[in-house]
Amino acid sequence: MIEIAPSILSADFARLAEALALAEKGGAGAIHVDVMDGHFVPNLTIGPPVVRSLREATRLSLDCHLMIERPGEWIARYADAGADRITIHAEAEPHLQRAVQAIRDRGLVPGVAINPATPLEVLDEILPELDQVLVMSVNPGFSGQRFWEPAVDKVARLASRIRARGLAVAIQVDGGVGPATIGPLVAAGATRFVAGNAVYGQPDPAGAIRGLLAAAEGSR
Ligand code: DX5
Ligand code: ZN
Repeated sequence: MIEIAPSILSADFARLAEALALAEKGGAGAIHVDVMDGHFVPNLTIGPPVVRSLREATRLSLDCHLMIERPGEWIARYADAGADRITIHAEAEPHLQRAVQAIRDRGLVPGVAINPATPLEVLDEILPELDQVLVMSVNPGFSGQRFWEPAVDKVARLASRIRARGLAVAIQVDGGVGPATIGPLVAAGATRFVAGNAVYGQPDPAGAIRGLLAAAEGSR
């Protein structure tokens, strides 16, 4: 099952309700919420009050990507605000297993993200406890960046590790995903895709989501 999660970071922040409605209309599987703290990444974005408002405005799952230092200290607040899935960065949390467990204890779905230069080995111990791994195909901080091509091979290597261990962990890719990059990523084993500019940077965001789904299905 292919999932497109539009990133509202690329939407007009004064018209988020419209962005959510377009995501639903296009067949999005979730809404990707990019949370940045100005420390782990050089940008500052969305906090729990905005997540709470999004929760009231859509039935879609809220896929919260925490690009913040010590994300473990923030899980309760994003859970209370209405997050469904919380993905934290391996690079930002020294107590990764505890934080992943805290997400699960709240009844939410845990994911771990890794930056382009972070090797897959950091996932070895935590992999069986995850629902998804987010392979970053840009260095996080901004939407509209150029796709980092080696992510395709990284996804293929991760998919083969997951298969070899008999696990059911989904691979999500975030950064520069569009109609041209989604096909090779599907072939490599990814099933969940974040798209910012490729959805909200387009004149017809709902049509753009349908186009991404069609490109993905065509590469299976
Ligand atoms: C990057 C964010 C991404 C970003 C994606 O730091 O994590 O989710 O918004 O935007 P595009 O698809 O435009 O690269
Ligand atoms: Zn993201």
